[in-house]
Amino acid sequence: MGPVAQEDRYVLGRGVSDSIRRLDAQHLLWRMYLGHILHPRIPITEGMKIAELGTGTGVWLFDASRVLPSNMELHGYDLSNNQFPPKHLWPENVTLGILDSLTDPPSHLIGQYDVVHLRMWASNLKGNDTAPVLEHVRKLLKPGGYIQWEDADLVNQSVSGDKAEHFALMMRDIFKQSGLQYDWVADLPNRLPHHRFEILQASNKKFHHDLVQLCTNTYLMAIVEILQGIERNSANTNSPILVREHEEMLFKLLQNTRDGMVYNWIPITVLGQKKE
Ligand SMILES: C[S@@+](CC[C@H](N)C(=O)[O-])C[C@H]1O[C@@H](n2cnc3c(N)ncnc32)[C@H](O)[C@@H]1O
Repeated sequence: MGPVAQEDRYVLGRGVSDSIRRLDAQHLLWRMYLGHILHPRIPITEGMKIAELGTGTGVWLFDASRVLPSNMELHGYDLSNNQFPPKHLWPENVTLGILDSLTDPPSHLIGQYDVVHLRMWASNLKGNDTAPVLEHVRKLLKPGGYIQWEDADLVNQSVSGDKAEHFALMMRDIFKQSGLQYDWVADLPNRLPHHRFEILQASNKKFHHDLVQLCTNTYLMAIVEILQGIERNSANTNSPILVREHEEMLFKLLQNTRDGMVYNWIPITVLGQKKE
């Protein structure tokens, strides 16, 4: 784990405004949707250790440190430290570090954690291959440890309004063109058992109407960044992808978010327990 952020082809942005606006607003959305930080079926034990992979701004861990017992150890890992708050602002039981969760974890982390939490990994995987991250999680967990995963299903969306529906079709095409695949998200409950996790809970209930606007706003902001990422990542290839038409359509949608238009992803939650 080094102190320097790595170069990578992450499709979302990591600038300050991106962190604050998107990740922290998404945290509010998840908190209001779930009503919990740690799933109520996970027993709270003395000195338990929790890891969060792809922690971003660390907002889930910071919130966890306020609502869970202070003797818990909370460790956040990310491919990049660009969005971490400065170290002197971390809660006492939180530490953040750089780690690629698609590779084997270092030996000192193996079998260390009671819980591993992942949230909003949808844009982190190339292709549909969840095996590397699920094996990484398995290795970090103690026997009987829990995996708690919350994510966005961008394939089965909840979209209404003519312009929004038209834009959703444009987005489906550009995801396809750029090789971004999100089908694995809805399939997570079927995939965990292949890595010897028992599924304790899984759900895909769409947002209640009081959260629809918050989801539309955060989702459209994420798409601004995804489009920029697609253009950036394809710029030096044989087939650069131009996103101007999509951006124009998107800015029209952003100006009219109070028209009753809905542009929501479907929240997917999964709780699994590591079997021997
Ligand atoms: C959409 S953000 C979600 C952040 C946080 N989980 C949340 O819900 O607020 C995804 C994060 O995963 C990180 N990430 C992407 N690929 C990763 C990898 N291979 N290993 C660890 N983190 C990764 C990104 O840097 C980014 O911070």
